[in-house]
Amino acid sequence: MKSNEILRWLKTEDFSELKKLWSLADEARAQNVGDEIYLRGLIEIGNICARQCAYCGLRADNRKLSRYRMSVEEILQCARLAVEFGYGTVVLQSGEDNGFSTGMILEIIRRIKSETNLAITLSVGERSEKELAQWREAGADRYLLRFETSNKELFEKIHPSLIQKKSDRIKMLWALKKLGYEVGSGFMIGIPGQTWNDLLNDILLLRELDLDMIGIGPFIPHPETPLGKNKILFDDQVPSTELMTYKVFALARLVCPKANIPSTTALATLNPARGHELALSRGANVIMPNITPAHYRERYQLYPNKAFADAISVESRRVLKDRIHSIGRKIGVGQGTSPHFKNYEYNYKT
Ligand code: 5AD
Repeated sequence: MKSNEILRWLKTEDFSELKKLWSLADEARAQNVGDEIYLRGLIEIGNICARQCAYCGLRADNRKLSRYRMSVEEILQCARLAVEFGYGTVVLQSGEDNGFSTGMILEIIRRIKSETNLAITLSVGERSEKELAQWREAGADRYLLRFETSNKELFEKIHPSLIQKKSDRIKMLWALKKLGYEVGSGFMIGIPGQTWNDLLNDILLLRELDLDMIGIGPFIPHPETPLGKNKILFDDQVPSTELMTYKVFALARLVCPKANIPSTTALATLNPARGHELALSRGANVIMPNITPAHYRERYQLYPNKAFADAISVESRRVLKDRIHSIGRKIGVGQGTSPHFKNYEYNYKT
């Protein structure tokens, strides 16, 4: 798909046109990744963060947040829940916290791998290539690191580098690929200061990075962050709306047809009742139910009113299953490796 075509879709408000986009995306989804919806058990293993991201409620300067770091044993308990619920993957996510030492993450990976058949996805921020290699060696399968925006200037503004260490997430994503991880990235829609052209470039970058997994969500202002305080008004600002999010999901599916694309929590926050169903009918094929213990989960506040769906109770799991069946889809069994990655492995080996 050409740039001007992507821009045209992004800007159209014509609902009969958009219906075409939704069906193109849904067809591409059915053809390339099938009707299964894979569930990933999301474990928010800690909310301590060394960064000062202007958008995120976990930023180090937010003194109003009470911080936690789960122990290896607590994390293992959650992984066992994931097995009990029939999930094939756990996603371990945290702020950027060196308190999760190389060795501690190694131990978590080894113990989960020795006890279960779960795929392990890490999402613990920017870490050194050396430790990424060690974790991969120990059995970590996948890594998620959003590039947040393809506009380098905007990125540096909203995601200040640490002293003496310039952030280069694109470089890290290529390093992860080389190490054999299944790699996911993505961005936020409607970051203050993000233009339509930026958003177009975000979508093109998904294709350029040739990703296995794509995570996208609308920006939601958090009052305890610089970007949650004053609204920047300028003509070319991309709106962070639900509709924009569906358009971007659909376009992501069309530019990366074989990638796994989760219907994200930020979207479900904008539309708790129907957000998942709509996203899953417009390109997405994965959901990440949150299995973090409730007393920690409520402290993992990237943004306010984060869809707080409890995925642990019997009732909530039944509701989720019904929602998936209501749109004619089924729950995937097994690890649900991205078809894009399987292709790559095949090409790589032959
Ligand atoms: N609104 C929406 N998404 C956010 N994230 C962090 N803060 C916000 C916010 N205020 C997203 C970032 C990050 C992911 C874990 O959560 O894209 O990579």
